[in-house]
Amino acid sequence: MQPLVDKFGRLHDSLRISVTDRCNIRCFYCMPEEGVQFMDRADILNFEEIERFVRAAVPLGISKIRLTGGEPLVRRDLHKLVEKLTAIPGIRDIALTTNAVLLEKHAADLYAAGLRRLNVHLDTLDRARFQHITRRDDLPKVLAGIDEAVRVGFRKIKLNIVAVKNLVEPDIVPMARYCRERGFEPRYIEFMPLDAQSLWDRRKVLTSDEILSMIAAEIGEVVPVPDADPRAPATEYRYADGGGTLGVVASVTRPFCLNCNRLRLTSDGKLRYCLFAIEETDVRDLLRADSTDGQIQDRIRRNISEKWIGHEINSSKFIPPPRPMYSIGG
Ligand code: 5AD
Ligand code: SF4
Repeated sequence: MQPLVDKFGRLHDSLRISVTDRCNIRCFYCMPEEGVQFMDRADILNFEEIERFVRAAVPLGISKIRLTGGEPLVRRDLHKLVEKLTAIPGIRDIALTTNAVLLEKHAADLYAAGLRRLNVHLDTLDRARFQHITRRDDLPKVLAGIDEAVRVGFRKIKLNIVAVKNLVEPDIVPMARYCRERGFEPRYIEFMPLDAQSLWDRRKVLTSDEILSMIAAEIGEVVPVPDADPRAPATEYRYADGGGTLGVVASVTRPFCLNCNRLRLTSDGKLRYCLFAIEETDVRDLLRADSTDGQIQDRIRRNISEKWIGHEINSSKFIPPPRPMYSIGG
């Protein structure tokens, strides 16, 4: 079968599945504090529908999956979905992005279901600052969740830190040290215009270069990882002294759209070829009808064939996507 290649020659092998738009915390760069309108439960794909979609996507070359949200662990029995997906021949990598508030309870089940890669969203190790950013006092739960994940066997743990200027500077180095001590990889993600309240502006982005110099000054020299995956959103560095790796996601200052290999499925069954896409392609109607894999594959191809060359965050033409981050899934 023809692989999934778009007009710009980009091969798509990676699928991000948002399993819910709900979240148990309220990071200000993603959600408003109150009054969030969540999707109707009936509109959300069930696990069988998601599995059906993935089985149809695999022959097109999809081999990597990331589960996102909202917060995926608020979805009951998420490990059962992981089990279904790890059983699909052709899927060789599954990762989960979580805020870890519920991880302590679920880590063992997820590991047993075959999950091996975790990205934990955590900006700070300071309880008051955590509460300020997330409007919830859940730092102890997050840290317990991470410890439990390590205890049950997870070895590939990355920590996502959203880099907002005049806010996270005091956390950059402590997060790097925490990760260095434990063998985790911190990933500093430049603040993107995806928040529900339109707070973003270019001057609020703490840039990857600024972050790298802070780390180099306080901890030690970092050098690019030579054989890093060129299609990964993060640029990888390692400490010159051998003390581990770190990544920066320079979505704003160095857009990596030309290497994009990603397709997204929202929890209500829409395909998005970009985080910032304006248009979507519905597949839920097909998943809920007596349709063939071929029909689902045609929709996937159609969505990818419409893919644009890249986002325009840095241009005056930029239009924020009609959905906020929590309903796209990062
Ligand atoms: N800009 C950049 N990253 C964000 N995230 C959430 N909101 C934003 C934003 N406005 C990150 C979180 C989450 C990941 C999916 O996206 O760290 O873990
Ligand atoms: Fe929840 Fe993630 Fe959004 Fe924070 S960034 S509110 S953890 S979905």
